[in-house]
Amino acid sequence: MQIRALIFIPYRRAAAHGVCSKNNFMKIRNRHGHFNLIAPFYDKIFGSMRHDLLLQHLEARPGDLLLDIGGGTGRVAQHLAPAGVTTIVVDPSPSMLKSAREKALPGVRALAEQLPFATDSIPRILIVDAFHHFAQQELAARELVRVLQPGGRLVIEEPDLRTAGAKVIAILEKVALMQTHFIAPPEMADLFVGFGARLIAIDTENINAQIVLTK
Ligand SMILES: C[S@@+](CC[C@H](N)C(=O)[O-])C[C@H]1O[C@@H](n2cnc3c(N)ncnc32)[C@H](O)[C@@H]1O
Repeated sequence: MQIRALIFIPYRRAAAHGVCSKNNFMKIRNRHGHFNLIAPFYDKIFGSMRHDLLLQHLEARPGDLLLDIGGGTGRVAQHLAPAGVTTIVVDPSPSMLKSAREKALPGVRALAEQLPFATDSIPRILIVDAFHHFAQQELAARELVRVLQPGGRLVIEEPDLRTAGAKVIAILEKVALMQTHFIAPPEMADLFVGFGARLIAIDTENINAQIVLTK
């Protein structure tokens, strides 16, 4: 897999693969300015997390290419590198990406709704705590399934809306006018299955769920 080729495809040239018009792209891209503001403090606020389970669900092997979509500062991706996985952080926020690049992680500025990657090209895809920020979740799900390699793995970690803790987070983000939209894990799995993915498992731990898919 030519990572350089993947990284430098500008989104306009990739529109042939995508599903977003330019206007739509600009509208969605302007929704997450707050991440540009909090990027310098993000890792300190959110701390670290468990990575072993993610790697297990991803079935990630040394040399595998992995996209961390909505990967932000690379808070999660930085811990996957020791497993030999080549991780690219994909995020629309320039400040979050700057922080990821400072960790020596390659970054691509793009939206989940319009991914500049070829169909069936990516063996491993991860999304942690980002899906509820995607402005057009159906478009994003379709794009994610499109770029996923047949037999590959797509793992989404999200607060599990079936728990009280996640419900509180959803309410607080609504009050803070963050324009987030949480959906319960089975509903999310159905969304991806509708675009051709196959559900492997929904794993829950505390207030988070990991939705494990293939195609
Ligand atoms: C709460 S942060 C999570 C960052 C990282 N995954 C982590 O767990 O540390 C959500 C990220 O999603 C990104 N994001 C928001 N809308 C997006 C979209 N439509 N496509 C891709 N990423 C998006 C934001 O810029 C932000 O970096």
